[in-house]
Amino acid sequence: MTTIALDGGTLRPLEPADAGPLALALTAMDPWARLGYVAPALEGYLKREDAALTRWIVERHGEMAGALALRSPWLRGPYVELFAILPRHQGHGLGGAVMDWAAKGAARVAPNLWACVSDFNASARSFYARHGFAEVAPLDGLVQAGASEILLRKRLE
Ligand SMILES: CC(C)(COP(=O)(O)OP(=O)(O)OC[C@H]1O[C@@H](n2cnc3c(N)ncnc32)[C@H](O)[C@@H]1OP(=O)(O)O)[C@@H](O)C(=O)NCCC(=O)NCCS
Repeated sequence: MTTIALDGGTLRPLEPADAGPLALALTAMDPWARLGYVAPALEGYLKREDAALTRWIVERHGEMAGALALRSPWLRGPYVELFAILPRHQGHGLGGAVMDWAAKGAARVAPNLWACVSDFNASARSFYARHGFAEVAPLDGLVQAGASEILLRKRLE
């Protein structure tokens, strides 16, 4: 099995058995809780056949610590479709290490890396800004009426 060593943790491909526990963890935290995601739907998304979606589990100290889903090809560069570090593993540099790894991989194949962030998610907006993403367009009501998802672009060249 491919395992990628990162500063402070590892990445390994998501397996079907990860989908249930991960969906429960994500729906208990924002932004997914606030946006009204429910675990069975998220579990279905994590498990379904999708050749353009690469799904990873982030581990720290041998525990599931987060997840990353990358859609590629997308728009002259991959799209970070899902990205989370679980609350007890946040603030140790792991999210930054995962994002640096994703950007390095994307830069080998494309001039952009894309993501979306909810307008109310101030901590993730500052995280992405610190990692070189520019907020390029608000997508009003994309997931929930009254909230916007903001499209983010990191130029890689
Ligand atoms: C956004 C998110 C992925 C960041 O993950 P993380 O592992 O906490 O990120 P880091 O630890 O690399 O950085 C977080 C902060 O911790 C601090 N930090 C970084 N490295 C650190 C270290 N080695 N030791 C202590 N603190 C550190 C920094 O102040 C950093 O600030 P910044 O976010 O403004 O850059 C995580 O908070 C998360 O999953 N949030 C909920 C889901 C979410 O919003 N996902 C993204 C949008 S859908």
